[in-house]
Amino acid sequence: MKYLNIQNGPQQVSAIIQGCMRMPALSASDAAKVIRTAFDCGINFFDHATCYGHEGEAETRFSEAFPLTGIRREDVIIQSKCGICPERQEFDWTKKNILSSVDDSLRRLGVDYLDTLLLHRPDLLFDPAEVAEAFDTLEQSGKVRFFGVSNLIPMQLELLKKYVKQPLCINQLQFSLEQSQLIDQPLYMNNKTTEFSVNRDGSALDYCRLHDITVQAWSPLQIGMFGGTFIDNPDYPALNEALNTLADREHVSKAAVAIAWILRHPAHMQAIIGTMNPAHIQDICAACDVTLSHHDWYALYLASGKFLP
Ligand SMILES: NC(=O)c1ccc[n+]([C@@H]2O[C@H](COP(=O)([O-])OP(=O)(O)OC[C@H]3O[C@@H](n4cnc5c(N)ncnc54)[C@H](OP(=O)(O)O)[C@@H]3O)[C@@H](O)[C@H]2O)c1
Repeated sequence: MKYLNIQNGPQQVSAIIQGCMRMPALSASDAAKVIRTAFDCGINFFDHATCYGHEGEAETRFSEAFPLTGIRREDVIIQSKCGICPERQEFDWTKKNILSSVDDSLRRLGVDYLDTLLLHRPDLLFDPAEVAEAFDTLEQSGKVRFFGVSNLIPMQLELLKKYVKQPLCINQLQFSLEQSQLIDQPLYMNNKTTEFSVNRDGSALDYCRLHDITVQAWSPLQIGMFGGTFIDNPDYPALNEALNTLADREHVSKAAVAIAWILRHPAHMQAIIGTMNPAHIQDICAACDVTLSHHDWYALYLASGKFLP
């Protein structure tokens, strides 16, 4: 496993994060196997959200499973996210909702603090002064150690930063070989013959790098949002062939190569994996032993359907 220090955030965190979005499908004992396997592979970071599973079921399952693992609370980073309210069909960054969401997460997770709290997706009605008050309350009470965001464009980060006094140390964004919009636009800039030239996120990656905000890449193996994985998918023959060539050379799985491709980027991102299969977790963690060359990285990028302008 590789470890990194998040500027103004937790230190010595694993480059691979275990996402818990899919944990509600598991029994407590199977969830314990996932957590223990991830931990034994060197993963010390677990990602949650209030909206994973009905009424926070992922957090509940995690707390049922965690005591079965023998891992100490202080040896892991527990992150949760708030602001997406599926039952109410709205996004909500009001002070009231942020505070009650954290209380709910702490209760469900059975812990007395979150290492990191992220605002999950922008509430179009958010008032940055209210967010600032909520963060102050959470920091002063010791319920949250560090703060960040997810799916946020740079200008809204700037707006938040004008009011919030805690550093915003993380922006969790979608990024993978299949969903590479985060890096495509600068390559094709000013080219009106391709969709890749559209700036869809206000240059979020460069902004995060300039401001020492760690990017956490979510759904690193997915097609679109919930389209299944591109690994072994017949609709992605060129990509699978390129992954296979490097997987054979490095004696790892194709999924590990796809994760190594994310970790190879000099932004020092973390990759949040979502598998609930312990064997897949072990396979993927081998990504940290793979060193992709400059050429390997481009070969994978091109095999994912992009071209050099
Ligand atoms: N901030 C946001 O808006 C946001 C949005 C979505 C997700 N997330 C976070 O990102 C995490 C990861 O998302 P994700 O689950 O979509 O990630 P993912 O790692 O891209 O996808 C995991 C899925 O791919 C499947 N899969 C198939 N073959 C696989 C293989 N060879 N190796 C590994 N997995 C394989 C897994 O099935 P098996 O379980 O059978 O292996 C699982 O269903 C979530 O848990 C959550 O924490 C954040």
